Amino acid sequence: MTESQSTSRPETLPTYDSALLRACRGEEVPHTPVWFMRQAGRSLPEFRKVREGIAMLDSCMMPELVKEITLQPVRRHGVDAAIYYSDIVVPLKAIGVDLDIKPGVGPVIARPVRTREDLQQLRPLEPGDVPYVTEAIGLLVAELGATPLIGFAGAPYTLASYLVEGGPSRTYENTKAMMYGAPELWAELVDRLAVITASFLKVQIEAGASAVQLFDSWAGGLAPEDYRRSVMPASAKVFAEVASYGVPRIHFGVGTGELLGLLGEAGADVVGVDWRVPLAEAARRVGPGKALQGNLDPTVLFAPEAAVREKTDEVLASAAASGRGHVFNLGHGVHPTTDPDALTKLVAYVHERTER
Ligand code: CP3
Repeated sequence: MTESQSTSRPETLPTYDSALLRACRGEEVPHTPVWFMRQAGRSLPEFRKVREGIAMLDSCMMPELVKEITLQPVRRHGVDAAIYYSDIVVPLKAIGVDLDIKPGVGPVIARPVRTREDLQQLRPLEPGDVPYVTEAIGLLVAELGATPLIGFAGAPYTLASYLVEGGPSRTYENTKAMMYGAPELWAELVDRLAVITASFLKVQIEAGASAVQLFDSWAGGLAPEDYRRSVMPASAKVFAEVASYGVPRIHFGVGTGELLGLLGEAGADVVGVDWRVPLAEAARRVGPGKALQGNLDPTVLFAPEAAVREKTDEVLASAAASGRGHVFNLGHGVHPTTDPDALTKLVAYVHERTER
């Protein structure tokens, strides 16, 4: 069977009956599936070792290394899914945007996007721009078997915020100045990013990713009406473009308590929730028929084990009360200084507490 045939019939994938995919579809599960945003990365000594002397963006283009880094947390923690090791700026780099990831800072853009001419940097992405993604995912799914691989991309708004600011920001002043002051330019910017993002997700699904997550990490900085008017159409376009594959689509942002309904409405099957809103309340804000992902505060992992268990029980109880499919995760990424043993213990604890 060719890859495109197998992805157009998701029930033929070896991962179809995994706990993760069942939970995303709101079906009965043997135990609550667990994975962690940023599970691959600096919290793991084995990651620091293999990355020594290799720049972040270079590492994303080395399929054997990507495979190794992606598998590290699966081996160590026994999580229910792998997340493809990459970064949200990889597709931008692949189409020729001059950018770098500065350790301790984040993505930095050489020529920030401020004018119509600057948009020329953002041509559509072709599968041939990212051969290393197809290759790495092929290697990974062969090794992972029945364990799902989650593909991901940055959402148009979060990508736009880096492109317009030129780097990480707390206030998004240039981004919002464009959104409010040059709405047509803004609409074209996020639309171009939607096209690039959808292609990047398609490449990952066609290569064998069983689910995808759209990270709109910084959308929480927006008022709901601004999100609905100026951002949601672009994210909705991304979700619509990948709908026909039938793989679960997860939508996540930080500080999005007031946006949870809209994150679902944009076209997600699963809404990722940060730690500020209990899952039972999130279920009320998210429309019916959607599963939830989350939402232990990642800093709880710095507390003693008894406290971690207590907070985990709260998350599990709230998820049970929500009556929705539940994928256990943190409310945001693993902090780099987290003790990896705390993560391993957390996976075992969630499995033990939720075994059916
Ligand atoms: O395990 C996983 O979750 C997969 C790996 C992953 C990375 N980046 C690897 C990475 C994922 C899912 C991302 C997504 C990403 N990248 C997001 C969305 C997720 C989120 O955190 O909300 C964002 C906003 C980025 C942009 C970005 N890239 C930032 C803010 C940073 C941190 C810079 C720093 O050093 O503090 C990066 C770099 C990055 N991406 C690292 C890793 C492992 C650290 C790399 C390094 O410095 O060597």
